[in-house]
Amino acid sequence: MKKLNAVVNAMDKRSHINAEIYGHFSEHLGRCIYKGIYVGEDSPIPNTRGIRNDIIEAFRNIRMPVLRWPGGCFADAYCWTDGIGEKKDRKKMINVHWGGVTEDNSFGTHEFFDLCELVGCEPYLAANLGSGTVKEVSDWIEYITSDALSPITELRRKNGREKPWKLKYLGIGNENWGCGGNMRPEYYADEYRRYQSYCRNYSGNELYKIACGPSGNDIDWTEKLLSIVNDSHTNAISLHYYTIPGGDWNRKGSALDFTDEEYYKTISSTLEMENIITKQSGIIRRYSDKIKLIVDEWGCWYDVEEGTNPGFLYQQNSMRDAIVAACNLNIFNAHSDMVVMANLAQAVNVLQALILTEGEKMVKTPTYHVFDMFKEHQNSELVYSFTENETVNGIPAVSQSVSVDGSGNITMTFANCSLEEDYEINCSVIGTAPEKAEAVILTEDIHAYNSFEAPEKVKPAPHGADITGEGIKFTLPRCSVVTVRLS
Ligand code: AHR
Repeated sequence: MKKLNAVVNAMDKRSHINAEIYGHFSEHLGRCIYKGIYVGEDSPIPNTRGIRNDIIEAFRNIRMPVLRWPGGCFADAYCWTDGIGEKKDRKKMINVHWGGVTEDNSFGTHEFFDLCELVGCEPYLAANLGSGTVKEVSDWIEYITSDALSPITELRRKNGREKPWKLKYLGIGNENWGCGGNMRPEYYADEYRRYQSYCRNYSGNELYKIACGPSGNDIDWTEKLLSIVNDSHTNAISLHYYTIPGGDWNRKGSALDFTDEEYYKTISSTLEMENIITKQSGIIRRYSDKIKLIVDEWGCWYDVEEGTNPGFLYQQNSMRDAIVAACNLNIFNAHSDMVVMANLAQAVNVLQALILTEGEKMVKTPTYHVFDMFKEHQNSELVYSFTENETVNGIPAVSQSVSVDGSGNITMTFANCSLEEDYEINCSVIGTAPEKAEAVILTEDIHAYNSFEAPEKVKPAPHGADITGEGIKFTLPRCSVVTVRLS
């Protein structure tokens, strides 16, 4: 086993890790909302006002901090007024982006806010700029957040919600360079300025406004956007970057059937996130020291599972996805001075899902377990850390980040991306003398996954970690994610 030295300086605090970096995304797409999160009140599956109890519990367990809704591309086709009032009277629509299925609007604004309250997370709305109107968005904000008397707030009261909700995160448009209107950045920027003017702060609510940023590392979009939109109009810009192992939207690759070469390509492609954030942060800093970055959508995008609706984006999730998740979360932690939120795509049954469902059955994916193992980073402080590293098949083998919480407990998260090498990590810890070390490991064959027949094939297990004279020692087996907590 190869030995790698590492160092952590618990006194060298770098940036605050916003809990929202561990955020999620739920779109009216395939079985994410319907037959996923929301089964309806009459379902035999145990639910609270139609929301699956096991999903509420699973989201709470990872301390889901924020949930984005209703899309995605769906958001720019969504009319919020169709999703309120008596369910039987709600208008139906065609979900044009995702399979052309009928959307009955039974999950709307009230149901979404109910979900967020049950989970204890911040709601994050994506408002329709692509095909809606300024008035619709403006009314939506008033409906949700105002305590004053108006026809709109009276409608909310009539629909059963007396007090307004709190809404912090508001995205104005989604992928407006693509599915959200195929706009030029200049055109979007002007539209954004107009829309955000009518998104007001009512009754003490304070909106955190988010403008549509680039696709991946599109520098031109960000430059042009920020030459028109400034920090009096926006708090953050969002970027979307998906890991596509095949590197080509027409041949994305299979979720479970992949070679070692494809695995290394996946990791190499996911590590591109680091370059994108660095580049995009650099551009933002040239225009403003206030505007932040949000990674609105990220994760692996494979070919859909055979026999499923191609518009539903249903894919399995293996140990490879766990490594991808760990690498990205470590990158977000490392850039937490700029990255204030990141949302995995998506929460249930779509793309790199946390959870898969089939009827009453529910499976926590390897990706879910990584969010569980990283949750102590939420609202902690990133501290200086360094690990000696090796290049394996063109990628750095080890990914890591370290944080310290308000009580001085240290959380270290590592991933060993190598399929060939095991490592022993000898880590010096400066600035504190830990008395207790507890470690958890997620490791399996890279192709292993959790199915409805074997839902616990990949799950975290206790791992050894020894306190030494200088710090801490533990192993990092090939293809593993390890969390060490020092107190
Ligand atoms: O997450 C699936 C889709 O990917 C979203 O609707 C869209 O924003 C992105 O292209």
